[in-house]
Amino acid sequence: MIGIFDSGIGGLSVFKEVYRMLPEESYIYFADSAHCPYGEKSREYVIGRAREITEFLIKEGADIITVACNTATAAAIATLREEYSDPLKHETAQRILEISGGRRDHVKFIGMEPAVKPAAEMTKTGIIGVLATAGTLSGMKYKTSRETFAKGIKVVEHVGSGFVELVERGITDGTEAESTVEKSIRPLLDAGADVIVLGCTHYPFLMGTIRKIAGPDVIVIDPAPAVARHLMEVMSGEGLLHEQEADPAGRQAIKGIPDVRLYSSGNPRILEESFNKLIRK
Ligand code: DGL
Repeated sequence: MIGIFDSGIGGLSVFKEVYRMLPEESYIYFADSAHCPYGEKSREYVIGRAREITEFLIKEGADIITVACNTATAAAIATLREEYSDPLKHETAQRILEISGGRRDHVKFIGMEPAVKPAAEMTKTGIIGVLATAGTLSGMKYKTSRETFAKGIKVVEHVGSGFVELVERGITDGTEAESTVEKSIRPLLDAGADVIVLGCTHYPFLMGTIRKIAGPDVIVIDPAPAVARHLMEVMSGEGLLHEQEADPAGRQAIKGIPDVRLYSSGNPRILEESFNKLIRK
């Protein structure tokens, strides 16, 4: 079973891609909406939440976990891997066996990262824009990938102020969404960015509005498809893929009803509504 979590409903944008690629798998999704947003919280706080959710997901049957949140990945994935991923560490193996009821001795994590590399390859102006939370932009993981992959490229960053709150309220278009998106995106466009990276899993919900403001000449990158492919590779390596062969090209249409359990630390109705809307699209 694939566990997926986010600070809220944003991770559903990742779930959608994963499900498109692996429709035969079972899923458990946790939205930490009672503690959303993570973007402005301390690293320690986010690590604490990530640990608690990880243990819940393992207990409920997850064999692999996708941290469908850039902010939680930046803050916590190294700690999660250190504490839960190495079966050769006696302590880890014991702990995971205990939590999973003897099912597993370790779990692997798949994280999110702003797609700086493809953006740097695609830009014609030599200027890329990165939209993410404050937590992601100040994290080491992002800084390292910017230094590694964006050499000679100008990177303009901006927090998507108010984006997460809008999405959690179910508002993805209309005048309020447009004026909120405009404020954060305008500085990137004015700086000459011709590629914009969405570095937060809530932001793809605003894709229509972002594209409307950015116009047809600007490429907007959502890293979810790349993350889904990576998850599939890791699952294959771990022997976790469902017997029936998945479609590697991800072309298999979304059909039927996904085998997914939804949990929220906040209002479950919001999660269910967003989920149903997303799956029907
Ligand atoms: N969806 C999240 C991310 O990818 C978290 C947003 C937040 O809670 O601030 O960063």
